[in-house]
Amino acid sequence: MKLRKRTRVSALVWPAAALALSLSALPSRADEVGARVEKAASQIAAEMARLCPASDPGDQAAFDACRAGLYRDSQFKRSLQDYVLWGRQRDPKLLLKDSKLTQFGPDVLAGMYMPLFMFNGKYTVAYAQREGLYEIRLQTAFRNRLTPGQFPYPFWHEAEKWSMYEKANEVILWWDAGTNRVKFAQFSVFGANPPVRTSAHVTPPAFDGQWRWTDAQGRSQPTVTVFDGLLHADNPYIGKLDVAYKNLALRLRDGQCFQCHVPNNPDGMKKLVLLQTPMHAAAEIKRVMKSVREDRMPRDEFGIENPLDARTKAALLNEGATFEKLLDLAKQWEARTASSMSATAPAPASADTQAQRAQ
Ligand code: HEC
Repeated sequence: MKLRKRTRVSALVWPAAALALSLSALPSRADEVGARVEKAASQIAAEMARLCPASDPGDQAAFDACRAGLYRDSQFKRSLQDYVLWGRQRDPKLLLKDSKLTQFGPDVLAGMYMPLFMFNGKYTVAYAQREGLYEIRLQTAFRNRLTPGQFPYPFWHEAEKWSMYEKANEVILWWDAGTNRVKFAQFSVFGANPPVRTSAHVTPPAFDGQWRWTDAQGRSQPTVTVFDGLLHADNPYIGKLDVAYKNLALRLRDGQCFQCHVPNNPDGMKKLVLLQTPMHAAAEIKRVMKSVREDRMPRDEFGIENPLDARTKAALLNEGATFEKLLDLAKQWEARTASSMSATAPAPASADTQAQRAQ
């Protein structure tokens, strides 16, 4: 009896060890939780390998298929918390709470960041006691040969960041067994395995300080951030969303928002929020509107709330509301189209149709 009790206590503390013990012991709560996480991990790993298999790291069609698959309706996307903290694992010993990470809604993580990786379906699951979370590690490799407009922003603004992306060999999904969702996600160069696809180093273009740019054909870039391939090519709101974002961005600039909410993280936030592209802002618009309405943003250099003057605030809220409304319309259009086209799989917008649309 005494022994049994001890086993149970240690099972709660060491769920991974309990999993091994469960072969001989009665199933405990920890066994059940471990089995549930293991099942979710195996399904996600298989889905990743099916939608985003290892391929040439510059293969645009493979990337588009992966992106559309993960964004539209994937178990991966459904497994994400409302906001997941994402970023590189700089040091495996660093606790997540001490790491500088970026907050992403499911659309952004599934539609822009995770598809930059390729998978072979191999994974491990372990319980990380120091975090109180399960650690699902997926073997991976990074698509370093895509064109610059396929990255959510120029990762090469920092040479070390680009280099770590290029060498990534694992994606870690930190699983909260309480909510049964991914709470944190990281890419890492510290996995034991080599990347699932090797690719020689790519020297990216020089970073000119611009997170967005317009290409020679007059298209907004990065093209992934203007919903290319995520909304249907004939969604009538795509062009309007781009314009609405540009108007909003002017107001965000007036409101000092880009002094902090940009990828180089000038304020050193541990939970960075990004607003510098339509995709990033789309995932945040409800929180943007709320924080401005309630005068919680912007902040001054000491982190103290620094409310906008009435005109700047009204203009920001006005453009924000237009952007928010168009997003809702675009999503409603997608939902209607998906249900009316459910017999035929929708084709994502290709680079060609994108170019035609812009002409
Ligand atoms: C001086 C830096 C700074 C400026 C300028 C700034 N922010 Fe923030 N923002 C922060 C920090 C720090 C947080 C994290 C807040 C926290 O959790 O304590 C944050 C969080 C947020 C969030 C996320 C979550 C929430 O708390 O609702 C939104 C949205 C946001 N800011 C929008 C804006 C907007 C819009 C502007 C411009 C009007 C702006 N911020 C200007 C520093 C800044």
